[in-house]
Amino acid sequence: MSESVYPVPEAWARRARVTEEGYEQLHGRSLADPGSFWLEQARRLDWVKRPELAGDWSFDEADFHISWFADGKLNVAANCVDRHLASRGDQIAILWEPDEPSEEPRRYTYRQLHAEVCRFANVLKAQGVAKGDRVTIYMPMIPEAAFAVLACARIGAVHSVVFGGFSPEALAGRIVDCDSSVVITADEGRRGGKKVPLKANVDMAAAHAPSLETVIVVQATGGAVEMKAGRDLWYHEAAETVAGDCPAEPMAAEDPLFILYTSGSTGKPKGVLHSSAGYLLWASYTHELVFDYRPAEIYWCAADIGWVTGHSYIVYGPLANGATTLMFEGVPNWPDASRIWQVVDRHKVEILYTAPTALRSLMREGDSYVSATSRASLRLLGSVGEPINPEAWRWYHDVVGEGRCPIVDTWWQTETGGMLISPLPGATQLKPGSATRPLPGVDPQIVDADGKVLTGPTEGNLCIARSWPGQMRTVWGDHERFFQTYFTTYPGKYFTGDGCRRDEDGYYWITGRVDDVINVSGHRMGTAEVESALVLHPKVAEAAVVGMPHDIKGQGIYAYVTLNANCVADEDLRQELRNWVRKEIGPIATPDALQFAPGLPKTRSGKIMRRILRKIAENDVGSLGDTSTLADPSVVDDLVKNRVG
Ligand code: PRX
Repeated sequence: MSESVYPVPEAWARRARVTEEGYEQLHGRSLADPGSFWLEQARRLDWVKRPELAGDWSFDEADFHISWFADGKLNVAANCVDRHLASRGDQIAILWEPDEPSEEPRRYTYRQLHAEVCRFANVLKAQGVAKGDRVTIYMPMIPEAAFAVLACARIGAVHSVVFGGFSPEALAGRIVDCDSSVVITADEGRRGGKKVPLKANVDMAAAHAPSLETVIVVQATGGAVEMKAGRDLWYHEAAETVAGDCPAEPMAAEDPLFILYTSGSTGKPKGVLHSSAGYLLWASYTHELVFDYRPAEIYWCAADIGWVTGHSYIVYGPLANGATTLMFEGVPNWPDASRIWQVVDRHKVEILYTAPTALRSLMREGDSYVSATSRASLRLLGSVGEPINPEAWRWYHDVVGEGRCPIVDTWWQTETGGMLISPLPGATQLKPGSATRPLPGVDPQIVDADGKVLTGPTEGNLCIARSWPGQMRTVWGDHERFFQTYFTTYPGKYFTGDGCRRDEDGYYWITGRVDDVINVSGHRMGTAEVESALVLHPKVAEAAVVGMPHDIKGQGIYAYVTLNANCVADEDLRQELRNWVRKEIGPIATPDALQFAPGLPKTRSGKIMRRILRKIAENDVGSLGDTSTLADPSVVDDLVKNRVG
């Protein structure tokens, strides 16, 4: 790990809102007097009724509750759109770069965005969608995805965006879990020159989702799809029949804004629920502070709207702050590895926010793809989703940013709503690989296995000691699971599931998940989910899944599979099982390595010893530790001998 330090560039020290001393003061004040700090911050939003209450919360079992600005009322879409009309109605709000580089980008001003969102909202209303109803959005990266999200917010419907790369099975599970009767989709998506059959996937999902009554289909590619009479309607036809204006529904601060499913260490994915006011405030606050954002700057978060990064930093944060937010339909390496830098030049992007996995895959192609472009517009670079290795950090800094752009390595989670630990470009000296310091309002603690709070330079498990406005409020339909998952491991604190080191300068270094969650290309995958998919296959008796190091993805998926008696373990079956998981969950869950294992290492009480499986997957077989407590220690020899990859 590198300990070299990159000072704040002169130009940034001069222009930034928050300076080095300013940061210490702000952070101190935020914790010393949170009530007035947050009520002041609440002024960044437009309220129907301004709140007089700030945070009201307790992480203790007896009195467990979390609420922020509870007496306030506002509408999230009005904050992202309507309030900008007077001052910057003709400024570009959404700048859309299509998958195919020869096609024209599309641009929507705030005024046009307003018209689109109102119309979409009226289409939803015409289909009977009302405040509190859940609407599933399964869309490609086209502007209509953002219109759909904001249309839900406008009428108080709760959106649940499902990543377009998820399978029909995964989509069905998410529709059923939140009991959603409406799905918004497109005929097809496009990514890297390939078509994704979104509508056909919805048709397949529908067979397992009895609650589904209405499918609204946006025409994106013009590809042929089947429309089921009485259930499916074309968006462009429905839009012609509705009025152009739609009032924004006043919502209580704590009314739910959206559900987003994410993987945990056990069971099926959880519906993470975010609130209206606290979430929006957090997205807006962090977007402004961490990117030192000024209205009209061209800002690009190269994530997908199907993940939380897309929610907070393509849609809600930037639009709340009056930004021009770039939305990219394509992928970084198509038509070739210079695409990102070409898009930067084409649109004069000033702030770029992407994931280490993308950087590593581009770095591998060599510097020529970067140096062939100008990138003169760039002034700030961001990283998100997984630890960034110092080598990728330096490449981003030295080659992409030519040494002039600070990197904000932002640590956060679906559950946190937005960034919690991150440098501020004008205030924080950088260390490659460290997310640096907590944002004002954030109170991280590192604890040992017994929950003892560790001070000074140390390493342990990362908790957050107090609530912040953007914190998730519950697991949809299972409040008990919310409490159990996050607040019982270390009572009185929110446990992140991440390991963390703090150095002598108080800098935080996230070391990765300490639970059974794998971070594949910056996306969370629960080992239990992949295991459940594998055991659904008729030939599989048992499966255990762990993470393994992967050069590009950060972590890859390593699956150990025990077959039923009389089933033959061969290459064909290995491929069949990998495709099976792909079909059950989606391409991101495909095991990178799959080992047939006659037996798994279990304790005498039948518990699988994952520690041993992890070591073998990591090819660290020299330090397997004590295997004498296993029911059958000999299985380990076989596993080591037949390790794959
Ligand atoms: O392990 C941490 C890692 O990603 C997890 C959260 O995943 P997800 O909810 O999918 O959200 C991803 C987008 C915020 C965390 O528990 N992680 C995220 N950002 C970083 C990170 N690990 C290290 N450094 C980061 N900057």
